[in-house]
Amino acid sequence: MQIAVIGSGYVGLVAAACFAELGHKVVCVDNDLEKIEILNSGGSLIHEDYLQELLSRHRGANLTFSASLTEAVRNALVVVIAVGTPASANGEADLSYVESVTRAIAQSADSYKLIVEKSTVPVYTNAWIQRAMTLNGRHASEFDVASNPEFLREGSAVTDFLYPDRIVVGANTERAARILKEMYGPLIDGTYAARPTAVPSPDAAKMPPLYLETSAQSAELIKHASNAFLAMKISFINAVANICESVGADIEEVCKGIGSDARIGPLFLRAGIGYGGSCFPKDVAAFRSVAREYGYQFQLLDEVHKINEEQRIRFMKKVRSALWTLKDKKLAVLGLAFKDGTDDVRESPAIQIIKSLLEEGCQITAFDPAAMEKSKAVLCDKISYATDAYSAAKGADALLILTEWKEFAALDLTKVRELLTYPIVLDGRNLYTMEEMTRAGLNYYSVGRAPLEISHPLSVKTKTVE
Ligand code: UDX
Ligand code: UDX
Repeated sequence: MQIAVIGSGYVGLVAAACFAELGHKVVCVDNDLEKIEILNSGGSLIHEDYLQELLSRHRGANLTFSASLTEAVRNALVVVIAVGTPASANGEADLSYVESVTRAIAQSADSYKLIVEKSTVPVYTNAWIQRAMTLNGRHASEFDVASNPEFLREGSAVTDFLYPDRIVVGANTERAARILKEMYGPLIDGTYAARPTAVPSPDAAKMPPLYLETSAQSAELIKHASNAFLAMKISFINAVANICESVGADIEEVCKGIGSDARIGPLFLRAGIGYGGSCFPKDVAAFRSVAREYGYQFQLLDEVHKINEEQRIRFMKKVRSALWTLKDKKLAVLGLAFKDGTDDVRESPAIQIIKSLLEEGCQITAFDPAAMEKSKAVLCDKISYATDAYSAAKGADALLILTEWKEFAALDLTKVRELLTYPIVLDGRNLYTMEEMTRAGLNYYSVGRAPLEISHPLSVKTKTVE
């Protein structure tokens, strides 16, 4: 099948590479010429497991990159819209990119096209796209529009795409439903997974995935409601963590206890410094705004957002109480990405905390296995960068863990203690047990657990100086 994917961001690039992997002929289009040049010359724009392999496997054959939307649309049967839908100032999704791409598709198309909306959009966007196509001169018989939300997570985007829990297709015509089913055929019937060259399936892969055909409105709502629900789960557990701190309970024990109820489940119950990324913050606001527009005050979502914001403020208070004053303190920060497995720093809680620490006059040396380049674009030269976790810790007054990278959960803590000026670790992601920190002789402040204060920082300073 000939597919044009418009947008080479996280969703577009991964979708394009994976559709090529399924055997389709794909052209990925972006209006950013620099991105197209990088992609054409063998580079990748993002850090994702297996992406580089898929790009190398299909580039120039099943997968090409182009800045020409017109040519790509003309040659394609299916046009996938995967441009960004950022939040506007009032929380609504900004659909101007979707609109301008739709207009360009209408002006370029010279035969039947199935337009597939993959960007996260508010309900009725499908109908708006149809209207824009008609207003731009296309007759209803010349196109269909379907909503096919993408549920991939950054860090495991390729395997999420190729081994999804469900594929949701909101198509309002038979013709659109048939084409989409064919497009996803190798995933639905399991023939992709059976190929010897297939990207290996994750342990928990659901095979075959649920193939859910719905109305366009339902598909659009499924995407917003899924992200809002997951964000709510995180805010819920963060609120419980705050109560744990007040009553002397341990959030990790509490999580095990509640997550083992099959009706609740253990996932997305990790307490910490809150959710970030390009999706949850934006989608919670956008869903709230859609609900309001259609007459429902979804106040629960205000609370989800508020708890998330407060989580960072609470963490800053912990840093203050562990270090007494912040001005001129040297801090080692582990983690810049909004989560592990990605180089993405959009809406990263780590970056937001670093900004607050800089405002308080701290000096920061940070390390992240993947996100240092992207963070340089945001923080410029306001912080220093280390080549690994230990060089960041050397001579620092405290170590802060802000992203849940696996390698940050496996540090040699005795070495960390020796490198730090003061034995203080502030962990915004609960990567260590109290026992590990006690053994290493570190003062340990985490989320939803009592602080472990082996020694008062100032008395330690005196001791070290002696
Ligand atoms: C995606 C989805 O599109 C968004 O709706 C969802 O909520 C999060 O994931 P993402 O892939 O992360 O967004 O977006 P981004 O990284 O901003 O990529 C969009 C790409 O589209 C960019 O490369 C941009 O240059 C390109 N673009 C944008 C176009 O090619 N044409 C345009 O008119 C606008
Ligand atoms: C999310 C959705 O999971 C995915 O289905 C959708 O398509 C896009 O949005 P993503 O933003 O890539 O994916 O990351 P996710 O793994 O959901 O994490 C989002 C944020 O929540 C991160 O900042 C992460 O650190 C945080 N998080 C996640 C927690 O704080 N606790 C948890 O238990 C899980």
